[in-house]
Amino acid sequence: MNLKDLYINYFVSKGHKQIPSAPVVPENDPSVLFNTAGMQPLIPYLMGQVHPYGTRLVDYQKCIRTNDLEEIGDTTHHTFFEMLGNWSLGDYFKDESIEFSFEFLTKVLNIPVERLAVTVFAGDDSIDFDSVSYNKWKSLGIKESRIARTVKDNFWIAGETGPCGSDTEIFYFRSDDLIPEVFDPLDDRWVEIWNNVFMEYHKDENGKVTFLPKKNVDTGMGVERTTAILEGVNDNYLSSIWKDVIDLIASISGLSYEGNQKSMRIIADHIRTAVFISADPAGIKPSNTDQGYILRRLIRRAIRHAKNLGIDINSDWESKIALLIIDKYKDYYSELLDNKTVVLDVLKNEKIKFNRTLEKGIREFEKVVSNNNMIDATTAFHLYDTYGFPIELTVELASEKGISVDVSGFHNKFKEHQELSRTASQGKFKGGLAGNGEVETKYHTATHLLNAALKEVINKDVHQKGSNITSERMRFDFSCDHKLSDEEKRDVENLVNKWISDGLEVKSQEMSKEEAIKSGAECMFIEKYPNIVTVYSIGDVSHELCGGPHVKNTKELGTFKIMKEESSSTGVRRIKAVLIDEE
Ligand code: SER
Repeated sequence: MNLKDLYINYFVSKGHKQIPSAPVVPENDPSVLFNTAGMQPLIPYLMGQVHPYGTRLVDYQKCIRTNDLEEIGDTTHHTFFEMLGNWSLGDYFKDESIEFSFEFLTKVLNIPVERLAVTVFAGDDSIDFDSVSYNKWKSLGIKESRIARTVKDNFWIAGETGPCGSDTEIFYFRSDDLIPEVFDPLDDRWVEIWNNVFMEYHKDENGKVTFLPKKNVDTGMGVERTTAILEGVNDNYLSSIWKDVIDLIASISGLSYEGNQKSMRIIADHIRTAVFISADPAGIKPSNTDQGYILRRLIRRAIRHAKNLGIDINSDWESKIALLIIDKYKDYYSELLDNKTVVLDVLKNEKIKFNRTLEKGIREFEKVVSNNNMIDATTAFHLYDTYGFPIELTVELASEKGISVDVSGFHNKFKEHQELSRTASQGKFKGGLAGNGEVETKYHTATHLLNAALKEVINKDVHQKGSNITSERMRFDFSCDHKLSDEEKRDVENLVNKWISDGLEVKSQEMSKEEAIKSGAECMFIEKYPNIVTVYSIGDVSHELCGGPHVKNTKELGTFKIMKEESSSTGVRRIKAVLIDEE
């Protein structure tokens, strides 16, 4: 049995209910692009909300961390990883949590106690030394010399605010050397494998710490790392999680892993993450913003490294790797099979797109570096704008040649460019409304209703991608991976017309951008809004950040009719609709 199954079975036998892994793109938390820890989807419950599955939970959770792509290629870092977690929501606390961890490690995984060491919270001005955890570990047979007390590393919070608390971390001695008598957490032969956080506090935006309604336990164990340890390999990519993927890349390229580790690891890691992002229910497609941009960078970087290995990019190498990954994970994540075609299409289409510009871009890049000893901001932006080179790619190519890039200059140019397009689109918008205000205003309100109706009829991951209004019609672009069926179109039309005849009031309210995001208001480009924003609400069917103007009541709109539904670009559909005046 593998680690995931052993873990779930053990905690289920201790009264925990298994909960499904949440999507990698958080459903209700627009403040982060991806789930970065197992506890993230559980924040509302750690804060006190009652969980439908009870007070003891266990799961494996898909996590993505892409803040340090440069580290990928070594033996231990991955952009996607699975985190095992068990939670107590106001149920057991430190003693039982530590007993469970100890029993699982020593009795189920059969790790010798001698190879284990732990850290506990040493105490500071506001929180006492965690003597409960200390004594518990000691009573279970961990020697005092293997219990280290630290402050900084023994307090856990996801980011800056939210539920938090002191923790105890469990380490494994991963080396053939003689095990030192005294445990030093900074000695990297000791590897952290599990973190048990005792969440009893909440930290707010002003840094104020208060008690949570209940004392919770949140633990996290990385599947990749622990599997490698259990299998006795020092390179995660040689464990059963990766070995066959690496072998496949070796066979596709005709090269051995030895000597080509970095590129092979990057390809394996990035394709796996791209598979999970594009199979996620959020329907992310490669783009130049947010999750779509990360997806694009991952695929493009994998392609670059495939080129390094001399792989024929036009062959179906990426599909082969993706299919193997889907096969390995399909029993745990059914979305991989459900969205198999989508995943393969995403990879292939992005490959074709990138390939077209890459050759030209590389020629341009070579030309630039043959005449210069650094890449200035204008050139870096030109490579981005014209050849689709993410800045990270330019930096990576440049560093291979020992050349530096003006990255901050690039970011300034990038911002300038954003400002320009924002002003341009606002100008266009105003111009559009200037002609015949009343009709356009009606259409504008209708776009909000259409946006809400699409979410209801198709799914809530549908988001606005653009709109254009004239006095004759409205055009609305939205993310969606399929052509709408006649039934879907009819349902959308009926729903909008129902809301119109309900005579819903349209109200606006000013609030901080943060509050608006928290309230779950819909918004197309959050970064384009000032700190104080206006949220327009239509009854309780729609809440959107918007500059207005809108009608006062939906009954002013007449009858809504979809004239056309068509593709706009990859993963984006377009609806053209009209409002018919009944009188
Ligand atoms: N939230 C803690 C972590 O990510 C324990 O799960 O380490």
